[in-house]
Amino acid sequence: MTSLMKTIPLFSGLGDEELAVLFRYAVKKTLPRNTLLFPQGAPGDALYIIQRGKVKVVLSDVEGKEVILSVLGPGDFFGEMALLDDQPRSAAVMTMESSEFYVISKSDFRACVASQPELATNLLRHLSRRLRVADQKIGSLALMDVYGRVAGTLLQLAEYDGDKRVLTGHYTQKDIASMVGASREMVSRIFKDLTEAGFIEQDGDRIILHERPRPSIY
Ligand code: CMP
Repeated sequence: MTSLMKTIPLFSGLGDEELAVLFRYAVKKTLPRNTLLFPQGAPGDALYIIQRGKVKVVLSDVEGKEVILSVLGPGDFFGEMALLDDQPRSAAVMTMESSEFYVISKSDFRACVASQPELATNLLRHLSRRLRVADQKIGSLALMDVYGRVAGTLLQLAEYDGDKRVLTGHYTQKDIASMVGASREMVSRIFKDLTEAGFIEQDGDRIILHERPRPSIY
């Protein structure tokens, strides 16, 4: 396990011994798709490291309307904020597919942050990067129209498959809508426009993104 943990940026620079102390009481947890790990506002008692799968970090209102702040995957971690500032969970976290986690207790995490300057520095670097992403999101909400936000989000979520940029089937139009602060109907309309203009192409359960519109075959 320590060799796997060393590939995670949060733990880079930590030795075998420090990692062994941090993970001595770590619990492995496997959860199916669409499982709530914790709700927004709950007390925070543990840090989660994703070994396999994908989760969404979500804010929602009383009517169930939700905004997805981030989607996290293997090697990412979450749940550190409530452990650092002793405040309730800032957002809910839910699995988007079957996922596996290592769960570290608050006391082990805090003790390690206090005694390992590398861990504290890695954590600060990570939090700075997250603030940059949040700044970009605030900027796009204030400065971009919904077309730009949908296009930007698709590009951000896409992965390369050879020379193709592809979005796999794990994201529904509702997910995209919750990421860009628009209705699902609006996102559906934009998908239709982008498809007709040749910028996106449905390929089974994947979406292929094209930098330039594909010439029409008709
Ligand atoms: P915590 O507040 O303990 O519980 C919710 C977690 O979601 C939080 O810690 C972070 O780990 C994570 N989180 C909150 N906001 C964001 C964000 N904007 N981007 C990525 N992760 C976030």
